[in-house]
Amino acid sequence: MTFPHSLLLVEILAIIIGLVGAQSSAFTASDDSDLWQYRTLPQHRIPKWNITHYHRDATAPGYWFVAPYWVTVGEPYTTRWMPYQVGPYIYDQDGELVWTGAEYTDNQNAFDLRVVTNVPGRPQLSLMVQTGLGVDLEHANGTVLDYQYRELASTPVYDKHEFYVYAPHKALAIHQWPKVVDLAEIGLPGVSREIKFQGFRDVDYKTGHVFFEWNSEGRIPLHETFVDITVGTPLNGQDYIHCNAIEKTKHGDYLMSCRHSSTIYLISGQDGAILWRLGGKGNNFQKDFDFSWQHDARIILHTEGRLVISFLDNAADELTNDKPVSSAMIVELDLVKYQAKLLNQYFRPDGNLTRRRGSTQLLPNNNVFVSWSDYGYISEFDHDGRLLTAARFASDRFGNYRAYKFPWSAQPAEPPVVVAAVVGINGSELVTELYASWNGATEVKFWRFWARAAADADKVPIGIVPQTGFETSFIARGYMDWVSAEALDADQHSLGISGVVRSSPPSYWAPGADRPQPDDPQLLLFPPPPEKPSWSPSSIVVVLAAGLGLSTLCWLLLALFSGVRRVRHRVLAGYTKVHSID
Ligand SMILES: *[C@@H]1O[C@H](CO)[C@@H](O)[C@H](O)[C@H]1NC(C)=O
Ligand SMILES: *[C@@H]1O[C@H](CO)[C@@H](O)[C@H](O)[C@H]1NC(C)=O
Ligand SMILES: *[C@@H]1O[C@H](CO)[C@@H](O)[C@H](O)[C@H]1NC(C)=O
Ligand SMILES: *[C@@H]1O[C@H](CO)[C@@H](O)[C@H](O)[C@H]1NC(C)=O
Repeated sequence: MTFPHSLLLVEILAIIIGLVGAQSSAFTASDDSDLWQYRTLPQHRIPKWNITHYHRDATAPGYWFVAPYWVTVGEPYTTRWMPYQVGPYIYDQDGELVWTGAEYTDNQNAFDLRVVTNVPGRPQLSLMVQTGLGVDLEHANGTVLDYQYRELASTPVYDKHEFYVYAPHKALAIHQWPKVVDLAEIGLPGVSREIKFQGFRDVDYKTGHVFFEWNSEGRIPLHETFVDITVGTPLNGQDYIHCNAIEKTKHGDYLMSCRHSSTIYLISGQDGAILWRLGGKGNNFQKDFDFSWQHDARIILHTEGRLVISFLDNAADELTNDKPVSSAMIVELDLVKYQAKLLNQYFRPDGNLTRRRGSTQLLPNNNVFVSWSDYGYISEFDHDGRLLTAARFASDRFGNYRAYKFPWSAQPAEPPVVVAAVVGINGSELVTELYASWNGATEVKFWRFWARAAADADKVPIGIVPQTGFETSFIARGYMDWVSAEALDADQHSLGISGVVRSSPPSYWAPGADRPQPDDPQLLLFPPPPEKPSWSPSSIVVVLAAGLGLSTLCWLLLALFSGVRRVRHRVLAGYTKVHSID
């Protein structure tokens, strides 16, 4: 990533033009079809993706971790666009939103959002949140969030290229020490320039304690640069090496990538000596490949005498290019013979150049996931280089620095949210539309909706539907009010429940006696079964009396047909004998 001053000027101009333009047309994005709006995220418009899956079955499991921005310098609040679009985002690989952290970062740019893979226990996220806002261009906080998106730590890092958590509480960040020096070293005695000396800090991100710090001054000479550091005024921070990635080896040394010297350095964790250089003017390796203006050097494998690393060979800066197309590279370094071999190369699918920024990630199944940066262009390849997926933001407004793919499991500390509206003319044929979401939740498979007859009535289940993307909608019969939404997992066990909200009525409902009132969900959806006939005491008396009369009649008829005399005799002989008639 780089922020040269010419581009900066363009960006600042763009902001000013935008601000002026905003006077006449506020919210130009309000009908931008490249953006999603969810009802449960009322003030957000979520950047949308344009995705092409070529071999979806071969993609690695996981979500995309990105951080869209408009301008890398950060932008004050404006009415030019809708707020809450830049910041950290997690999407699934269909481009469906999983988490927006735009509100968490308070509408500020974020960079380098990723899952922390080096800390045991529940997974965590790390990211950088821009704090400079247009002035201190590089200033950011390195921030760690837990699996519920709660902030565990946030510490200033003074450069927004790298915040790499490599152990609990420990992180690496690029750092800079601008200093005015004489350019005698490059044959210009008497000419002074402010040079942005760079390096890194190995810090405890909880306490801010610095374990180790390394500054290029006196170690990386000015002549290693490939940019013209004589241009400009003495005080504009010549970015002579432009470091963009730092990682620690298992021996405690540091692998550092610097773009403006086209060099990957190994720096001793003991005494800060540069142990070797790969690429650039001081290259120590015999190699079968070239690279330049690279980003994101990462250790893949480190055994005795052998190091395998990946990086993005941008092969271009803003002005020039050394190759026609950028590529991700995996290279093997023999640290005994100082030989370097290209193992794999993955070319930018559209054949274009990534002139700034970008990243390369080797996934656990050996697929390769690459950020080509502009427009958020990303691609996933299988190990042999077959393109599986390519995607970019649908809107031309957004860029992205690094992109990652990780499995992720989260249960947000914030509860789910629901909004509801009753729809209909008046008391007849009303329905209630409900929308539920849970920003950042990964385990929700179903939603159960509840309603109440009154604020203090018992809640009644009004339906269960499968989750459909970030936001799930449901239409209930009747005027359901005091509604809530409960997130359920695959076994329909509860994960969390929203607060109770009122359903908003249509704006055209006039106040007054005719205005429809909320239905009782119990009565409307679970009416009691039709009444069975019931027996009252008086009806029992009537039935008994009727039965007695009927049986007497039968007895008499029977008597008539079966011998009158005998019966008459027995009757005369006394009632007590009647029952022994047979
Ligand atoms: C999406 O990308 C494809 C391939 O690059 C392109 O043909 C198409 O026009 C894009 N669609 C949109 C809506 O941008
Ligand atoms: C950055 O970190 C500092 C120190 O922890 C904190 O005071 C500040 O609020 C943070 N700023 C942001 C934007 O997170
Ligand atoms: C390459 O990318 C640049 C910057 O995004 C763009 O302006 C240019 O049109 C692209 N060229 C091709 C051939 O796609
Ligand atoms: C219900 O709406 C219909 C159609 O607008 C109207 O004719 C009728 O008077 C309304 N009834 C009540 C009770 O408001």
